[in-house]
Amino acid sequence: MSQGHFIAFEGVDGSGTTTQSRLLASHLREAGLPVTLTREPGGTPVAEKIRQLVLDPSLEGISPTAELFLYAASRSQHVEEVIAPSLNRGDVVICDRYIASSIAYQGYGRGLDLEVIERVNRLAVGECLPAATIYLLLPVEVAWARLRRRDVADRLEQTGMALQEKVSRGYQQIAQKDPTGLVFDAQLGIDRLAEGIQDALRRQWSWFPEEKK
Ligand code: TYD
Repeated sequence: MSQGHFIAFEGVDGSGTTTQSRLLASHLREAGLPVTLTREPGGTPVAEKIRQLVLDPSLEGISPTAELFLYAASRSQHVEEVIAPSLNRGDVVICDRYIASSIAYQGYGRGLDLEVIERVNRLAVGECLPAATIYLLLPVEVAWARLRRRDVADRLEQTGMALQEKVSRGYQQIAQKDPTGLVFDAQLGIDRLAEGIQDALRRQWSWFPEEKK
């Protein structure tokens, strides 16, 4: 039985999952809690290699199913090497993207059967599921405008607005159905969003640190 707490961040590209997962990690570390901050795809040497492959802009011909398995392979390695051991030693594990990303991108985005995605991911992670999933929702035009301002464009970001739009609609549905889901408007502004996330987690969990005065 794991002792730790598993929190995942989810949202379209440009929604701020990386910024917000870092801010939550710093907040908890400042309060003296042991935190493992990690990300997907990646998080271990093997999984980072898979990340390089799957996000390579030259990999145009990859099939959606091959992509699903690559993300699941990365996730399985990540759980085994990082997430499960960290939870077992009592850490708060904060993961920037997890299974809902596969449902949103490979399912709603690329059209794979959602049940197949669930099954493949169950095989990959077993019972290692987040206790809270934070969804940062953003209208697709706003996400798009944010992405255009960034110079990094990986393969998925380059596939354009049509995919992002499907993913964005997908996240709305996934968030509604997810019993662990906490849903936020990603346009709130970085600090207000960070505070909103902390407040929601504090209401949910007695171990969560008090508000800073
Ligand atoms: P991310 O690391 O958030 O990108 P960046 O570092 O550019 O902010 O995510 C990489 C991309 O991988 C993102 O477009 C979402 C996609 N992705 C999937 O399609 N399926 C998955 O299961 C995961 C974890 C990510």
